[in-house]
Amino acid sequence: MPIRTLLLFGTRPEAIKLCPLVRRLRAEPEVFDVRVCVTAQHRGMLDRVLQTFEVVPDVDLNLMQPGQTLSQSTARMLAALEPVFQDLKPDLALVQGDTTTTFAGALAAFYARVPVGHIEAGLRTWDLAQPFPEEVNRVLTGRLARDHYAATDWAADNLRREGVPDEAIYVTGNTGIDAVLHVRDQLAAGHLSSGQDFSFLDPGKRLILVTAHRRESFGDGFERICAAIRRLAARKDVEIVYPVHPNPNVQAPVNRLLAGQPNIHLIEPLDYLPFVDLMRRAHILITDSGGVQEEGPSLGKPILVLREKTERPEAVQAGTVKLVGTDENVIVKETELLLENQEIYDRMKLVHNPYGDGHACDQISTIIRSL
Ligand code: UD1
Ligand code: UDP
Repeated sequence: MPIRTLLLFGTRPEAIKLCPLVRRLRAEPEVFDVRVCVTAQHRGMLDRVLQTFEVVPDVDLNLMQPGQTLSQSTARMLAALEPVFQDLKPDLALVQGDTTTTFAGALAAFYARVPVGHIEAGLRTWDLAQPFPEEVNRVLTGRLARDHYAATDWAADNLRREGVPDEAIYVTGNTGIDAVLHVRDQLAAGHLSSGQDFSFLDPGKRLILVTAHRRESFGDGFERICAAIRRLAARKDVEIVYPVHPNPNVQAPVNRLLAGQPNIHLIEPLDYLPFVDLMRRAHILITDSGGVQEEGPSLGKPILVLREKTERPEAVQAGTVKLVGTDENVIVKETELLLENQEIYDRMKLVHNPYGDGHACDQISTIIRSL
């Protein structure tokens, strides 16, 4: 009997990292009976990833509400997931990362007595407040999971330190690297087109690509980030593209402080292909995103991270990521250093990606069939 495997996800980053696995598992219908349930914690951004990867969910809970709070989302998801488990009776549930969907999905599976596989397990800052609430979500998901798919040895060690048995931990690389390497190589070979018109970019200027959405930066943190971006945009030799996350706590300060400023392009969130294309074209990435920190090294770009702590220290150690927090002066100083000092810039460009080699989905599928 094929293993009935239920993949649960709901946000853009989970979808980008799980759709390649959905496709990989679906390639062997005699081994895997794949079911996909989306909470649609993100509605628009999720749908665009589903379209890109041509994944059609079996169940779409359509739960997003504008301006949703953490408790509201969690409660709605738990209630909506119970009948999904009753209906589908999966042998295994797979969740990814550290969002509300990840935690609620793992808890709903646990209540239904379905074993949980946690993809991207073992990331830790060891500070429950940073990132908020993701550190708590991944710690709690780790407690509920039976199988732990860690991207790196460091993440696997974190799980061992928490008492997870060795035989339940698998180091596979990150499935997001499978996706980014495929897209990067297809774009470079001209086999894929990003389908986006970037003719608004000035080839005479160096592109700084910005993304930011972390909850712990809402309020003052975002004010400082925006102030730093305005100062950088005053330089004649750069232009800034910022696809703005739809969270109202992000939209409000960014639009108030940056809309209409010269050299700053505020745009809608991009589809995955054009976003990878834009990362390729960028000179520097400034971000608080987890996924962009992982993808950046594969594109050979220096990454300045708008956080005090990161759960992804491997790229910091490798020299391609630098934590700059949300202090206006530090962000400006570190960016200018990269713009003006070619030697420092070149040292931050990496070829090797510590988060994966593009075969995470193959490894995970081999492990699941052996369980
Ligand atoms: C969520 C995750 C975060 C992840 C991020 C990736 C939680 C608690 N947070 O944060 O871990 O890094 O996604 O982007 O799980 N919205 C839309 N359309 C969309 C998506 C969001 O309008 O497609 C708006 C809605 O008003 C929504 C709000 O953004 O209520 C917040 O969405 P939510 O998923 O709760 O939080 P994020 O900040 O997106
Ligand atoms: N991304 C995208 N379009 C954008 C910005 C980001 O497709 O406009 C992709 C990016 O390549 C990465 C993922 O979204 O794969 C990261 O998502 P996000 O930053 O929202 O979440 P995080 O990784 O911080 O949880």
